Amino acid sequence: MNAINLKVNGKAHAVDVDPTTPLLYVLSDDLALNGPKFGCGLGQCGACTVIAKGQAIRSCITPVKSVEGAEITTLEGLGTIEKPHPLQQAFIEEQAAQCGFCVNGVIMTAKAFLDKNPKASEEQIQQAMSSVLCRCFTHVRMLRAINRFREGRAREGLAKEGRTREAAAK
Ligand code: FES
Ligand code: FES
Repeated sequence: MNAINLKVNGKAHAVDVDPTTPLLYVLSDDLALNGPKFGCGLGQCGACTVIAKGQAIRSCITPVKSVEGAEITTLEGLGTIEKPHPLQQAFIEEQAAQCGFCVNGVIMTAKAFLDKNPKASEEQIQQAMSSVLCRCFTHVRMLRAINRFREGRAREGLAKEGRTREAAAK
């Protein structure tokens, strides 16, 4: 078997696996990254979501070979317990989880969507999140957390714009 080269959370890895192995198995079994979860294994629940080439993808149905060389981000690549990503922080502040099993998929899907659509409306976010399943019915709090993050980022953007304008006027 030839080694497959992966770039995960900024680090390079060479893994010696069958090219058709689902990316999820490689992440958990070979790279010890347990943020992405095995839910349905059929691409239907979203628990295994990671971001590759800027897109939220379902790693349980993604052959590892198909993402060779791509920039892959897992939940572990966003933030740490000591320094959570602002989106993770919003989830903490809104207490947006019950069992927590779906949270990886919710956060990674929201991150990829908002990176591409920073000005998305609440309805558009709701639509984008509708394919990520949560068996604990915590959707309302999760959407609140996502909106909190989006609003925080919009405020930051306005403040930055103001500072740039001020600097330009000097
Ligand atoms: S485990 Fe991948 S979509 Fe459900
Ligand atoms: S918090 Fe339990 S599945 Fe979503």
